[in-house]
Amino acid sequence: MDLADPSSVRNLIRHTKPHWIINAGAYTAVDKAESEPDLAYRINTEAPEAIGIEAKALGASVIHFSTDYVFGGQGSTPYVETDPTGPLGVYGASKLAGEHALLSGGATAFIFRTSWVYGATGKNFLRTILKLAREREELRVVSDQHGAPTWSRDLARLAAHVIGHPELHDSQLTGVYHASGAGETTWAGFAEEAVHQASQREPGVRFATITGIPTSEYPTPAARPPNSRLNCSKLGTTFGWKMMEWQESCRQVMAKF
Ligand SMILES: NC(=O)c1ccc[n+]([C@@H]2O[C@H](COP(=O)([O-])OP(=O)(O)OC[C@H]3O[C@@H](n4cnc5c(N)ncnc54)[C@H](OP(=O)(O)O)[C@@H]3O)[C@@H](O)[C@H]2O)c1
Repeated sequence: MDLADPSSVRNLIRHTKPHWIINAGAYTAVDKAESEPDLAYRINTEAPEAIGIEAKALGASVIHFSTDYVFGGQGSTPYVETDPTGPLGVYGASKLAGEHALLSGGATAFIFRTSWVYGATGKNFLRTILKLAREREELRVVSDQHGAPTWSRDLARLAAHVIGHPELHDSQLTGVYHASGAGETTWAGFAEEAVHQASQREPGVRFATITGIPTSEYPTPAARPPNSRLNCSKLGTTFGWKMMEWQESCRQVMAKF
């Protein structure tokens, strides 16, 4: 389906009549969204709205992914689901509107807000850092944004866990849940850990030194929240699910390279 076209979303769902709809699709170009708000809102807000309406009509349940960027990033404690939101840019605002739009349809829906997603394949921070660390002497990485890297597979397993346990398919559990890797770090901390683990695996290879820099030295069109920490307790108490420690998931991902 084309998520930018709500009628395409509706038609496909009506045609296939799924029991579950998992929406991992999104407009994720955080900086480009500032100059393409219409497209970002179509994909991140109108598509989840259409999914919610169709799911309700079918009696289907929904798993949808959202983001730490719904928050403004003040403070230094992990956000809980009920904390006030305050997105700093179009991407976060369109994703937040998508959460509301999906829930307004009335279907059973689980929205997992996650952060700093990466994995063994695709374009992501870990793979970029490890590539550059082989090519350069020094990498300057932002060290004043705090959060937790999340393995995409951990999120996939969470979705499978929910779907695999019928007792969790309860409309009363509809809502937003925080689901990011356990623990916390900064982007520079993530890069240091990745290079540290890579050096242990390949002692003969010289990797770049990681130097922490403030966000002000790495300006971007869209502001990023300095505090992206998410408190995932509700996920544990509701679904019996604990997200992996981010260093451990980093180890497991790197073992796949
Ligand atoms: N990456 C992160 O750090 C992060 C952090 C927090 C939350 N999230 C959330 O996690 C979810 C997955 O993010 P991700 O990092 O996997 O993003 P991604 O790598 O950019 O993947 C987004 C997917 O959406 C698809 N898509 C985009 N526009 C579409 C359209 N018009 N019709 C159909 N499919 C379309 C893309 O397809 P193509 O590949 O064909 O373009 C791609 O497969 C999103 O909801 C995102 O907001 C991600």
